[in-house]
Amino acid sequence: MRSALSPTLSRRGFLAGSAASGTAFALRPAWADTPGIFTLRAAPGRARLAPYPWGESDIWCYGGTVPGPEIRVRQGARLRIVVDNALAEDTTVHWHGLRVPNAMDGVPHLTQPPIVPGESFVYEFDAVDAGTFWYHPHQRSFEQVGRGLYGPLIVEEATPPRVDRELVWVLDDWRLTQDASIAADFGDFHDMSHGGRLGNTVTINGRVPDAMPVRAGERIRLRLINSANARIFALDFGNLAPQVIALDGQPVAPHSVPGGRLVLGPAMRADLMIDVTTEPGATVSVIDRFFAKDAYALVDLTVAETPLRDAQPDWSMDLAPNHLPEPNIGRAHRHEVTFTGGMMGGMVERKMGLSNGRGMRGMMNRMHDSGIWFVNGVAAEGHILDPMLTLERDASHVIAMTNATAFHHPIHLHGHSFRVLSRDGTPTAHREWQDTVLMAPRERVEIAFVADNPGDWMFHCHILEHQAGGMMGVIRVA
Ligand code: C2O
Ligand code: CU
Repeated sequence: MRSALSPTLSRRGFLAGSAASGTAFALRPAWADTPGIFTLRAAPGRARLAPYPWGESDIWCYGGTVPGPEIRVRQGARLRIVVDNALAEDTTVHWHGLRVPNAMDGVPHLTQPPIVPGESFVYEFDAVDAGTFWYHPHQRSFEQVGRGLYGPLIVEEATPPRVDRELVWVLDDWRLTQDASIAADFGDFHDMSHGGRLGNTVTINGRVPDAMPVRAGERIRLRLINSANARIFALDFGNLAPQVIALDGQPVAPHSVPGGRLVLGPAMRADLMIDVTTEPGATVSVIDRFFAKDAYALVDLTVAETPLRDAQPDWSMDLAPNHLPEPNIGRAHRHEVTFTGGMMGGMVERKMGLSNGRGMRGMMNRMHDSGIWFVNGVAAEGHILDPMLTLERDASHVIAMTNATAFHHPIHLHGHSFRVLSRDGTPTAHREWQDTVLMAPRERVEIAFVADNPGDWMFHCHILEHQAGGMMGVIRVA
C-alpha cells in the first residue's frame, strides 16, 4: 500500500475522535423542481472523508456532496435529469443498471457526445424497474468516479415490503495521502495490470462511519451499493442473519447470505433484510473479509438498551418481480467470450490451454503497446468500437464467459439485466438477475437474457482501471 492510512487505522482514529451518532448516514435527497425533475451539477468540491484529525479533502462530486443527491422515484415514473458540467473536463452520466433507451445511456461518443465544460445535457427516461441503482460518469471514469462522482438512484416498489427503517449505504474506497488528499496516481500501471486501484480508507456515504445505533426486534432494509473503483467487499454481519432480497436491483427469492459473506464487486448492489436479533446493549461489527489477511471492521452496530419489540416480525420479505422477458434457454443463440491479460495472465492462459506460448517479455510489450486486458483478444481504446457481438433483437442469448486471468472481474452489460445460469458448469441456486456479475479467476460463468433493447451497449469490467486498460467491448442489439 502506498499511502499511510489503512481502513483499520482510519477507523480507529475516528472512533477515538468522535461520538456515535446516526446522522452521518443520512443522504441528501435530490432537489426536484417538480416531481421527477432533478438537477445534477458535476463540480469540484470538498468533503470530510477521513475522521479527525484529518481535514477535508478536495473531491469532484454532484451537487456539492459525496455521494451525490439520492434520486428516488416510484416505479413507472418518468425521470428528467439535467446534468450541468462544471468540471474542467468532459463528462457524461450513466444510469447503472437501469434499462434505459440507448440514447440516454450516457456513454461518450457511443450514445451521445461528451458534455463539455460549461454545457448541460438532459437525460429523460422511465424508471421501468423498481430497485437499487446508481449513477456515475462514463468518461474517464477511473478518475471521475475515483474522485467522488457518483450517487444512488432508488426506484421504489408500488407496495414496498414493510420495514421499520430503510438505509442506503454507498460504499467507497479512497486512496488518501497523509494529509487526506486523494492520491493523484490515477491510471497507475501497477493498479491497471493487477487488481485495480485499491485505497486505504473505506467510507459509507462519503465518510468513515460512526457506530450505528439499532434496536432489538427492529427490521431494517439495507440497500448496499459498491461505488469503489476496485475494492470487492465480503461482508460478514456476525450473529445477524441478513436475508438477501434483491441483487443489482432485481428481486431474488429471499435467502441467507451464502457462506455468511455478502460478496459485492464494484458496481454491484444488494438489498438485505436485517432483523436485529442480538440482545440489547450488544455490539455487532460488520467485517469486510474479502482480503482475509486484511479483514477490518467496516462499521459497528450498537444495539440500544430498550428493544423495539420482543419477537422478530413475521412480515413478508417478498418483492414483486420486475417485468423482465424470460430467456428461452433451449432456443437461445450461444456466444463465447474470453477475458485475458493482466499480470500473470500468460500463466493462467497456459494452464487453461488457451496460451499461444507468449513469454513474459512478449506479454509486457503487448501490455504497454496495445492494452493490458483483452476481450476475445481485443483491448479497447476509448468508446468508439466495432461491435464484438451482434445479437438478434428480441431473441434469447446465452453468453458463456471465461475468465482466463489471475484476477476477479465484475462484468457489466448495459441496457439489460441477465440471468446468471451457471458457474463452472454448476447451475446457480437462484438464477439471479444481475447487471454485473463477479467472476473469480479461471471461472466460467453463463448468463442469459432476451436482447430486447436495441442499440450499441457497453460490456465491460467494472474495475475501472481494467476497463481503462482495455477490458471493454460493444454488444450490438439489432
Ligand atoms: Cu457502471 Cu459502463 O458502467
Ligand atoms: Cu476486471
